[in-house]
Order: sequence, then structure tokens, then C-alpha cells
Amino acid sequence: MRTDFLVQAGGKLSGTLRVPGDKSISHRSIILGAVAEGDTEVAGFLEGEDALATMNIFRALGVRIEGPEHGRVLVHGVGLRGLKAPPGVLDCGNSGTSMRLICGLLAGQNFDAELSGDQSLRRRPMRRVAEPLGLMGAQIRTDDGRPPLKISGKARLRAIDYTMPVASAQVKSALLLAGLYAEGETRITEIAPTRDHTERMLEALGRPVRRQGATVALTGGPLRGTRIEVPADISSAAFFMVGAAIAPGSDIMLTDVGVNPTRTGVIDILRLMGADIELMNPRRFGGEPVADIRVRYAPLAGVRIPRALVPLAIDEFPALFIAAANARAETLLAGAEELRVKESDRIQAMADGLGALGIGATPLADGMRIRGCADAAERASAYRGGTIDSHGDHRVAMAFAIAALRSAAPIEIRDCANVATSFPGFADLARGCGLAIALARTA
Ligand code: S3P
Repeated sequence: MRTDFLVQAGGKLSGTLRVPGDKSISHRSIILGAVAEGDTEVAGFLEGEDALATMNIFRALGVRIEGPEHGRVLVHGVGLRGLKAPPGVLDCGNSGTSMRLICGLLAGQNFDAELSGDQSLRRRPMRRVAEPLGLMGAQIRTDDGRPPLKISGKARLRAIDYTMPVASAQVKSALLLAGLYAEGETRITEIAPTRDHTERMLEALGRPVRRQGATVALTGGPLRGTRIEVPADISSAAFFMVGAAIAPGSDIMLTDVGVNPTRTGVIDILRLMGADIELMNPRRFGGEPVADIRVRYAPLAGVRIPRALVPLAIDEFPALFIAAANARAETLLAGAEELRVKESDRIQAMADGLGALGIGATPLADGMRIRGCADAAERASAYRGGTIDSHGDHRVAMAFAIAALRSAAPIEIRDCANVATSFPGFADLARGCGLAIALARTA
């Protein structure tokens, strides 16, 4: 079954909405809850395909998990040594987070396991986890650096002191999870700060993580089940933030959004461009900061995106490229070569799509140069409608859906079923606040 989006041109966004739960935190609630002692009760869990893949994997590893039901999940933790050998290959679907984090956890078990996934995931680089885990003593076989990952049990893990060559929260988290099983203190140094949900959740489950500058350190030992409330995902909210920022007359309120400072690069970049964004009602869900975010239309200007913000907005560039397409003058992104190895090559997929609409976008090895089309008279030729291939990438699909708010003609986006990996119900929620989006399903 193929799903396409057909989005009519124009409109504005308004109203109050809560986007679904944070994907990164939802994965971690299952992974850490599963190996904790006692129950972990999760509220606001993201019932998207990626987090459900993680849940199914832990069921296959012998963990009893109730739900999800309206975002509620109850994980009956089995303790660090309670996982069981799975009956077959563990399917991560489209989810790099499932594969990399669970690989770290499985490296410390006393049984063999194999992790695989869909076509997109089988193309993604896995040496970044297999190599450092190997240094810890794990035995992991890849297919020339790509999935499937064959992890042999019975390895005794030892702690390492490791500087990561890439800025990756998934790699950091895989090593922290393996570190739970290692002898000694595992120390990981980052070349740039990345999302720290694993560290915060480990602490919430009673396992302290020492942080010293760019280094995090953890000693193995048991976790204690707890209650976790998952904030709304800022990466999903980003599409509505950009939509409201580009469409005149827009005024939206996004509630309960996770605003962990390792995730808020999208707010900083949009503000640099001139966006009107207000954070209200700041509070905490456990260890995670949360706020309501109000976005009103304001004219945007192109910027050079500061490199330090790249890892803090790494999933938001498809949406941010649409903001750039609507800004006065040029936007330049560099230092973002990681975008080439996401669910799709997001630099190429976005450059192709922007090109199909008539927008001047030049892909670079590590980023993109986008000539904004803020002038209404230019839009008929330089920001037309058209047909876009999402390359099966959820965030590319949603970015171009939002782009239709300012295009001169409708935009059709092909191959959007994977939107359900991170944002089930996207089209309904978007329609409810003013986007003229329809779904077409073909067998
Ligand atoms: C994630 C980390 C990021 C991000 C991904 C989720 C996580 O990946 O792109 O969507 O939950 O740890 P990298 O660590 O590969 O940058």
C-alpha cells in the first residue's frame, strides 16, 4: 500500500495542538524500563512504528509489556540479566535508534542475537557502533559496515575511554548501555553536544551519570523502575513551527513540547531568521524540561546557520530548508554531512524536491545553499507546486506538506507511508489547524 499526500496551496495555521510523544524518549523508556528492576509506567508514549519496533523487540527478548493504550505503557522490567535469547531475527524496521541503542545493550548479554531492518535502514552506517563496542570486547559482525548486525553473546565487556569521531547521540547511548554491563567506568567524550535523553533517564532510574565538560562517565549496576512522562516531540512540532513562521496570519500554540537544550537548535535557528517564537509555562516532566510554544507569522531572512547548532537541530533540517525557501535572501548550511546518512540522503532528497518546486537549492557535500523566495511575484515561477518524491523519508514528506502553505500551486508528495514511523496522525492534525492536506492510498 502506497500513501501519497496531496496538499492544496495556501492557507495559514492556527489553534492549539499537542503533537505526539518524543520518539527518542519513547525508545529509551522501553529499553531502560526493560532492564530495570520493577515496573516502569510510561505516559505519552509515541505509538509510531519506530518506537513500536523497539517495543516488539523487547517482547521478543522476553519482557512483558502492557499497552500501548492512549500512550500508556507498563514495562515489567526484568533486570540487567533477565533478558532471554530471542526466537529469531529482531526487526528494527526503519529505526536507526532501535538498531544502534539495542546493539549496545545486546553486546552485554549472554546469548546471540541478530538485528535487521527495512531497505533504508540496511543502507545505514553501523561501524560507528560496532567499532567502539568491539573495543569494549563485544563481538559484532556487520555486512561491510551495514546491517544486519550479528551480536554474539558471552563477551565480557570492559569499560573504555572513548572519543567519538561523529556527533551522535545514538553512538553515545549504545556505549552507555553497554557500559551498564562493563567492568569499570565507561567514559565517552563528544566532539559536539548531542541529545542527552539517555543520561537523564539513567539518572531518573537511579544510575548516576557523571558529566564533566564534553565527557560523560558511567559505572555499571542496576536500574530501578520508575514513572516516565514523555513530552511532545519537538522534532514533530518543528513542522508546525515552520508552517506558522512562513504563512501570513498564522498563530499556533504547541503544548507540552520537550525543550531539552540539546534539542532546541530549531528554535534558535528560526529566531536567527526572525521568527516570532515564545516559550511559555516552562516546567519539567521528570528530568526533561517542557514548555508550550507559541509561533506567530513574521517575515524571515536567510542566515548562515552556526555550525554549533547543527547537532542540536539535526532532525529538523528538512523543515528548516522550507523556512529558508521562504526567507529573504540566501541561507547557507555547512557542517551537516550527517544528513546524508539519515533515513534518506536528506541533502539530496531535499535539494531534488526544492528544485522540483523551482526553488534555487544547491546541495553541498556537507549542507545546502538555498535562495529564498520571499517575493510574492516570484512565486509563480520560483515556488510553484509540483510532484515530490519523499524517498520514503518521513521528515522529507512532512516538510514538503508544510511547504504548500506558500506554494503557487498544489504539491503532491509521493511515498508518505513512513510518516507513521514518527508522526502517526500527522495529516489529520495538520488539517485541523489549517493545512489543506488529503491522503491518497494505492494498492
Ligand atoms: C537520535 C539521535 C539522532 C537523531 C535520531 C534520533 C536518538 O541520530 O537523528 O533521529 O534518539 O538518539 P544520531 O545519533 O545518528 O545523530
